[in-house]
Amino acid sequence: MALGGESSRHGMWSSRWMFILAAAGSAVGLGNIWRFPFIAGDNGGGAFILVYLLCIFLIGIPIMMAEVLMGREVRKSPINSLRKLVAISKASPAWVLIGWMGVAAGFFILSFYAVIAGWAMDYVLVTAQGTFVGVTSEGASAAFDSFLQSPLQLIFWQTLFMALTVWIVARGVSGGLELAIRVLMPLLFLLLLVMLGYALTTGSFGEAASFMFRFDWERMGVDAVLAAMGQAFFTLSLGMGAIMAYGAYVPNNASVPGTVTIIALLDTVVAIAAGLVIFSIVFANGLEPGQGPGLMFITLPLAFGQMPMGTLFGTVFFLLVSFAALTSAISLLEPAIAFLVEEYNAVRSRVAISLGVITWILGLGTVFSFNLWADVHLLGERTFFDLLDFVTNNLMLPLGGLLIGLFVGWVLPRKLLVEQLEMPALWLNLWLLLVRFVAPLGVLAVFVYTLYRAAMG
Ligand code: PHE
Repeated sequence: MALGGESSRHGMWSSRWMFILAAAGSAVGLGNIWRFPFIAGDNGGGAFILVYLLCIFLIGIPIMMAEVLMGREVRKSPINSLRKLVAISKASPAWVLIGWMGVAAGFFILSFYAVIAGWAMDYVLVTAQGTFVGVTSEGASAAFDSFLQSPLQLIFWQTLFMALTVWIVARGVSGGLELAIRVLMPLLFLLLLVMLGYALTTGSFGEAASFMFRFDWERMGVDAVLAAMGQAFFTLSLGMGAIMAYGAYVPNNASVPGTVTIIALLDTVVAIAAGLVIFSIVFANGLEPGQGPGLMFITLPLAFGQMPMGTLFGTVFFLLVSFAALTSAISLLEPAIAFLVEEYNAVRSRVAISLGVITWILGLGTVFSFNLWADVHLLGERTFFDLLDFVTNNLMLPLGGLLIGLFVGWVLPRKLLVEQLEMPALWLNLWLLLVRFVAPLGVLAVFVYTLYRAAMG
């Protein structure tokens, strides 16, 4: 079996580095800057972060390699790549369900992702107007709360963000996005460094670091292990086919293990940096780390309100967050679009618009979760948004990852893996151990543990 075809009908990344940037663009997003700090805060910091890091390295990296090699072998959308791989391995067609579940997860995630990204876009404007100069913590909280009370404002930004996402995916992934990612991703890193510099001046950097790295199991809540694993999948864009879809466009001369390691490290560094910045601000201002989805939107304005040139830095920062969200959003839609284009020879732009509209409608549920439906609770005190977030990140993505691990580890012919990965035998066997046993059993153990704790009350 030779390496998969030379190129994909959807286009190809122009180089190995372009793939790294694109996949890092998918991985680095709201998950790192918005979700990681608030989930870590909700779950007490240290021990949560340790479990999260273990999941990244023992489950995330091996599964990411699995996704990339699956995509690159066939060079089609995840559903069709699975179909072909099932045929090659003479396995049960039921495995293709991984692809369908991934498409569904992508929709669900994008529906709320666009709403939150909309908040970041609103904050670009609000920050630029100098609203936060000298703001107090009460002022920053009040501003955010009153913003959430206006469904129309939220819908306006959600719509704008969805339109941008659809517009970019419609043009094809390599058609302009490449350039933007090349310029904006490094800028995001640079600005995070500036923010880290600021965090050091707050006087609470040490407290933030100890909150994040003191592995105090006492503070670890019952659901924290599940949340940590879910966050690991979410932040690396794993378990739903985004990375598999991007893998289909990876040139044959790129090394899968090498590129994947770089991507995962970049993602982890951004999340940890964002956490240090946000928790420094939290502790310096006597705020609560566990205040949920609003954490970033209350802490950062405070910082920008106090630092020199805060209005400028703040505006640019929220702009970069919005952009990071955009480069993730397109990867949430790509698996479904590539599939429809292959299946029905459909025009990419038309498919993109239709799927965008469906996602937008579903997203209204998230918009209303913060105002009109704020008191509607589903399954244990959860708003519609909380439920969607829980089901996708804590259940669907880990389940997708578990199945991908089993499929690649137990079903695909070893020869194919050897050719795709080109690793020394020792490393290959280590990776096999991780995808065959550690990743699936790890996910399973966390599921069982959570169910058990839930049943025990
Ligand atoms: N990884 C992205 C983030 O951290 C979100 C994402 C999840 C993107 C799943 C694609 C697939 O923001």
